[in-house]
Amino acid sequence: MIKRPRRLRGNEGIRKLVRETKVNIEDLIYPLFIVEGENIKKEIKSLPDCYHYSVDKLDEEIKELKDLGIRYVILFGVPTNKDECGKEAYIEDGIVQKAVREIKENHKDIYVITDICMCQYTSHGHCGILNENGFIDNDETLKYLGRIGVSHAKAGADMVAPSDMMDGRVRYIRSELDKNGFVDIPIMSYSVKYSSSYYGPFRDAAHSSPTFGDRRSYQMDPANSDEALIEASLDIEEGADIIMVKPALAYLDIIRRLKDNFNIKIAAYNVSGEYAILKNAIKNDILGEDAILETITSIKRAGADIIITYFAKDIARLLKEEE
Ligand code: PBG
Ligand code: ZN
Repeated sequence: MIKRPRRLRGNEGIRKLVRETKVNIEDLIYPLFIVEGENIKKEIKSLPDCYHYSVDKLDEEIKELKDLGIRYVILFGVPTNKDECGKEAYIEDGIVQKAVREIKENHKDIYVITDICMCQYTSHGHCGILNENGFIDNDETLKYLGRIGVSHAKAGADMVAPSDMMDGRVRYIRSELDKNGFVDIPIMSYSVKYSSSYYGPFRDAAHSSPTFGDRRSYQMDPANSDEALIEASLDIEEGADIIMVKPALAYLDIIRRLKDNFNIKIAAYNVSGEYAILKNAIKNDILGEDAILETITSIKRAGADIIITYFAKDIARLLKEEE
């Protein structure tokens, strides 16, 4: 035998030398759910080991993240008041705006990304403004998304991430940010967001389920792959700085396709349902903890440069143990 591939697998030294993909803590963004009220740190039932925080409890959490080496967070607001037009999403004292100010005031070294959407804030739970027939008015919604983006930037957000899936929103938000002097705030667009069952635990956590119908008129059909190229190229043309695929694990082929087709940073969202399956399997001793790194590595190997994951804290710990 001339070729023996096992020669490069004989011990950890040689395995490390030839390893192609390594997940770094700097690749990861940790999602945080912020609620109104005081002194709240309450575990989210559908997302074991993840919590709802009130703004005053954020400092404690951010310190924990920094100790673990986690520097990137994405914020989701869970407001107490909802209305037809999701006003709480863009007012100066909205829950996300308050949380951003609190974090940036005390922790300049934490990079704060905000999710731009309306579903947590609208009484009907859809990601946009409805017309009289109960359909989403795409172009009317853009005005609100622009307002939300500018309000987040004014509060001090480092980056905004629109997750609504309306047409033309990246261009619109870009121009509103620019008009208001935020030319340096990047947009990470949820460009390729599928209409997925895997968002279930998030919707419990964020109280953002639609009260009627579903999101299939704006989120993508899971059966489609060519359409991902259309969505991604439009967002790039419109000025997205980073494009995202969501969910991650059931769409690794899509991540790879975008990686091969576009020269732009790609993020992947390892969503709540993907987290819950694996977390519960580990908690019930069905799988070992090693499954976490194997799984997150698959997302990076598929082509993601950036990974949003509820596992960030576990990964920080596992990477330290590996050292
Ligand atoms: C809503 C939004 C969703 C997620 C983040 N923002 C999904 C949805 O309800 O459509 C999902 C995140 C997750 O499941 O972890 N715009
Ligand atoms: Zn939404």
